[in-house]
This record gives sequence, C-alpha cells and structure tokens, in this order.
Amino acid sequence: MIQLFLIMRISLFGLSPNKCIFTPILFRSDLSQNIKGMVNKEGKWVFIIALLLGSLGLSSCSDPDRLEVNVYSHRHYPIDREIFESFTAKTGIRVNVVSASADELITRLELEGERSPADLLITVDAGRLHNAKTAGLLQSVESDILMDGIPFRLRDAENYWFAYTYRARAIAYAPDRISPEEILTYESLANPSLNGRVVMRSSENAYNQSLMASVLSHRGEEFSREWCSGLVGNFSRQPRGNDRDQIKAVAAGQGDVTVCNTYYVAKLAESPSAEEREVVNKIRILFPNQDDRGTHINISGAGITRYAPNRQHAVKLIEYLISSEVQEKLSVENHEYPIRGDVKLSPFLEEWGEFKIDTLPLEQLGIHNEQAVRIIDACGWL
Ligand SMILES: [Fe+2]
Repeated sequence: MIQLFLIMRISLFGLSPNKCIFTPILFRSDLSQNIKGMVNKEGKWVFIIALLLGSLGLSSCSDPDRLEVNVYSHRHYPIDREIFESFTAKTGIRVNVVSASADELITRLELEGERSPADLLITVDAGRLHNAKTAGLLQSVESDILMDGIPFRLRDAENYWFAYTYRARAIAYAPDRISPEEILTYESLANPSLNGRVVMRSSENAYNQSLMASVLSHRGEEFSREWCSGLVGNFSRQPRGNDRDQIKAVAAGQGDVTVCNTYYVAKLAESPSAEEREVVNKIRILFPNQDDRGTHINISGAGITRYAPNRQHAVKLIEYLISSEVQEKLSVENHEYPIRGDVKLSPFLEEWGEFKIDTLPLEQLGIHNEQAVRIIDACGWL
C-alpha cells in the first residue's frame, strides 16, 4: 500500500491546485518501479484504482479556456523541458507534462476515457502510436503545416500521429575484438561465431520489440523464431540496463557487440564524465543491412488524443516541434535525426553520414508488436 500512496501522491497531490501542473518528470523512475512492483505484488486492481484517482484529480482541473496543453510523454530527455518552455514563451500556452512509459500512458488514457485531460500522446515508438490509434485513443488532425512539413513515410496515413524525429538502431562493436565484416546485418548477431559475445538490453524495451517487429515483418515468423533463439544463445550476460549500459559493457569487454540508438553514443561522447567519454573511444558503430533492406529506424512522434480538451493548442505544439528552430535543437543538442532536410545536423550525425534506411511502413511495428513479443518470450529473451 506504500506504492498506492506514492501513486496517489504523484497523481493527486503532485498537482498545483491553481495551475493544474503535474510534476511526475521528477518522479518518473519511482512511478514506473512502483507500478511494476505494485502490479506484481498486490495485483492489478491497485494500479487501476490509483490511475482512476489520478484521473479524477487531473480531470477536475482541466479548463477549456485555459491557455494550456496537457502532454502524456514517454520521452525522457532534458531538452524537452527547454522546448516546452520556449513554446510557452512564444505562445503563452503552458505545457503540463505527465511522464511515464507509453504502455502506462496508454493504459491511463483507456481508463480515463472521455474524462481524460490529456491532449497529446508523445512516444518514442511508432508501434505504440499505431496501437493507440487502433485502440481509439487518438484523433485525426488536419494541418497544412504538418502535411507539408513531415514526409508521408513519417506520419500516419490518416494523420492520427506524426513523427518529429527519427532514430537509427545501429550496431556498436569493439573494433579490437570483432571485425565489422562479421556483423553487417542484424541477422548476423545470431551467428554461432558470436557465441558469448553479444550484450543486449531487456526485451521489455520498446526499441528492441520494434526491432524484432521489423525483422518479423521482413523475414516472417519461422525465420524470426530461429533468429531470436540464436541471438539469445549468443548473449554473454543476462539483459540489463539501458542502451548506454550496453555500449559501456562492450567498451568494458563484457561483450563484443550490441545494438543501440545512435544518439546515446553522441551523448556519451559529450558526457561531463571522462570515463564515459573514454567509452566512445573504445567502440565503433555501423549501420546494419546496408546491402539489403536498410537500417531499422523508429521515431519520436505525437498524436492528438481523442478527447483532447485543448485540441488547437496541441496541434500548435506539434507544429512547433517540426519548426526549423526545434528541429535544429533536437538534432544539434540531442543528436536525433530531424524530419526536415533543411536544418543543421549534429556533428555526430554529419560524421556518421548518410545511410540506407529501412522503409518498412512504420505502422508495421505496431501491427507486429504482439507477435514479436510472443516470439521474444518464447526464446527466453528476458
Ligand atoms: Fe531513448
């Protein structure tokens, strides 16, 4: 029940009574851990009650005349706060953020229904956005700025969600221990020659689930099962940690190869910690599958929620996210790939150069998510 108290405190008492500001960014990891612990130990009903209580609190302070927009976000980058603050400075529209995993936020939207105060769902996975759309949690948007600014491939065909950056899932390796020729494709990571040499983060993470969904989309179920078994059989340790931890593990010799989103390499290279900067000197990255389908990409994207009380403000916020100013910031300072071709790139993105991108329609990541998770579970990828 301590966890229930924490959730209630975050959900209800984390609100500023006058401004309706939710402050869970500060509590995000506590929130996630407590939700997981609570669901495991005390049953799902506690989690559901907590979410409902939180919903009542947030709904009661939602005011359509207020200049605000309520964002449910799975992004976890400090730069987002700066971007939202500059949006507020330009428009007078306050941005209130609820931060949690996409799955937690989608559950919350389902429970809140039409009482939801949320205007915008932001995720770091196209699959989650597609699934939110098919669950009836998003609405279609008409905006010439979004239509003209975002390539068709990077938005939902019916305009339920829009990417505003994309990210490449690269292979990172120790050049003194493995030749790039051995690891030119995701498929190669299952080769017997890599036995005991692969480190990976947990399969609970959306990045790896979507990578598996992309393999499944291209190669079918039978191949994907075999690939997953081979990959897991090559692990040098139990999956743990985030993308940065996998890169560090390769640098430390706990494995020779991993997969990671490229911006984490740039973030380590720019770290104030000399130890973290040194990690980057010990690894290299390559963009897999350049001779066939291209490297798997995913997106950061946003969709307007079905019952958004501040719909117009939310549309304005997405339009702002694809402005040159924000796109350049996300590229130069957060090292994500911008969706616009006319903005300055981060020096890291410049150095890594152009690469062939897997053009699989992004909704396939959502369509194949459930099957991908079943395969992952069956092959024992924790
Ligand atoms: Fe990330």
